[in-house]
Amino acid sequence: MEKLYEGKAKVIYPGPETGVVRVYFKDDATAFNGQKRAQIAGKGVVNNQVSAALFRYLEAHGIPTHFIRQLSEREMLVKQVQIVPLEVIVRNRTAGSFSRRYGVEEGRVLPYPLVEFSYKNDALGDPLIYDDAALALGLVNGSELARIKELALKVNALLKEYFAQRNLELIDFKLEFGRLLHSAAPTDERGAIVLADEISPDTMRLWEMGTGEKMDKDRFRRDLGGVEEAYQEVLRRVQAAPSA
Ligand code: C5P
Repeated sequence: MEKLYEGKAKVIYPGPETGVVRVYFKDDATAFNGQKRAQIAGKGVVNNQVSAALFRYLEAHGIPTHFIRQLSEREMLVKQVQIVPLEVIVRNRTAGSFSRRYGVEEGRVLPYPLVEFSYKNDALGDPLIYDDAALALGLVNGSELARIKELALKVNALLKEYFAQRNLELIDFKLEFGRLLHSAAPTDERGAIVLADEISPDTMRLWEMGTGEKMDKDRFRRDLGGVEEAYQEVLRRVQAAPSA
């Protein structure tokens, strides 16, 4: 089958009609800009199903996404978009690159959620970018940037609550947005900004409430063991009814 695109964790195939594509989730895992590589058994199945559940939940709460429906354990059907070349990171507690960059311990609660952007560019190592530079480089326009920030903060509020009901704390996460390439539905507007890519334990930090145990890709990045088990547990909690 002809591939439209192959990334580190996913493959995009043409869909059944114009403006629609199929996303296949692989078990391949990379970290540190591709320097560390391995397979995490069952990761694609977890990430597809977690992403599908979260996209459904966010759509139901007014967030426009690329998600159409889940096709199989490893595949979903999505609206075709042109990806905005920004990684949009939202942080509730200090961790990861933020802690390293500013020399602060991990786990400090931030007084308000931070929205941070990286320029999606593998050759440059996805450098941090500030608003004015993203605008000056033409990566986004002003109204798109404002919309992306607004949606990112809404997604944060919704996902924080969603995971808290499953005894997990949302520490930080990365989102990607796209511009709709076709009017797939009457309510869709060509060029409109929608949430795209995936939301999974690969792209979020989730800590067990109470113990602070890491339930995400940091188990792989930091060789903590129990990687597959943590991914399966996140899927189990996402599929379970909320506890509060
Ligand atoms: O490494 P850093 O602290 O900047 O990551 C912040 C959040 O964004 C983490 O949840 C991480 O999993 C996610 N992220 C990602 N893809 C990247 C960089 C970060 O999903 N390329």
